[in-house]
Amino acid sequence: MSDSTSAVEIVRTVKALRARVAGWRAEGLTVGLIPTMGALHAGHISLVEAALARYDRAVATLFINPRQFNSAADLAKYPRTEVDDSRKLAAAGAHLLYAPDGDAMYPPGYATNISVSGVSSGLCGADRPGHFDGVATVCTKLFLQSGADGAFFGEKDFQQLQVVRRFVQDLNIPIEIHPCPTVREADGLALSSRNMRLTPRERQIAPALHRALQAAAERLSAGADAGSVLAAAAAAIRDAGFDRVDYLELRDGGSLAPLERAETGARIFAAAWLDEVRLIDNIPVGAA
Ligand code: PAJ
Repeated sequence: MSDSTSAVEIVRTVKALRARVAGWRAEGLTVGLIPTMGALHAGHISLVEAALARYDRAVATLFINPRQFNSAADLAKYPRTEVDDSRKLAAAGAHLLYAPDGDAMYPPGYATNISVSGVSSGLCGADRPGHFDGVATVCTKLFLQSGADGAFFGEKDFQQLQVVRRFVQDLNIPIEIHPCPTVREADGLALSSRNMRLTPRERQIAPALHRALQAAAERLSAGADAGSVLAAAAAAIRDAGFDRVDYLELRDGGSLAPLERAETGARIFAAAWLDEVRLIDNIPVGAA
């Protein structure tokens, strides 16, 4: 039994990670992977729980991947809470934490990039050049380093999930990708490590993003046309106190192609700023 003060076992090298996974394989056990950048909250823990429900062993990873950040300042600001994270993982029942250091992931001379076209463009790809190449590159490495049977990703970052599904299929990587529902606060705000940077006033405004998506989804599933519905939703987000809306779009949940009207599998995607904090969210329109 783990308690809240014990920490999960940590490995920091590919060799040590592979040795642990090989040991489990020899016992006939299956392995689920949960890639994270740490600062763990209940959203991350839900992925650990999903992995434990599906596989014999759950391996979380903690690596703040410099290649997916657009500015050095943003990277420097990212919360680093490894001790706390390792306790949360132990309490959730995870079996191992793989927390490599930067040099092990990208040693001097490192020169390879995984770039996914199509699903990486637009939405978060438009405002964050190179972001999804960074995500695809690090996830490819984590999948190959661990040799896990499955990996768990939150629908909170839906575009990221589609990018991962795409390169796994394209590169024939033998891993099953499991999507997990977005975990939210009681008022609808999607859990995110960025929420802790909101002032009390901004925290009050923040759930307006999800509320606007819900209202728009209702009108869209009733057959309304995307242009007017999304314009009204963007206005509602700004009126609630958001400083800027980066995007608010209706897209197909598989290909992420833009849609003019709701179709089966459609989703609404949004990103908006509260002062210096950028929040994202997405929900299905009608039945997902
Ligand atoms: P990070 O932001 O730490 O998120 C790790 C995983 O937790 C992602 O799959 C994300 O979608 C999921 N997650 C975050 N908030 C969630 C919520 N409220 N509900 C459900 N799942 C949630 O995403 C990354 O790290 C990185 O890009 C990574 C994939 C680790 C590559 O570096």
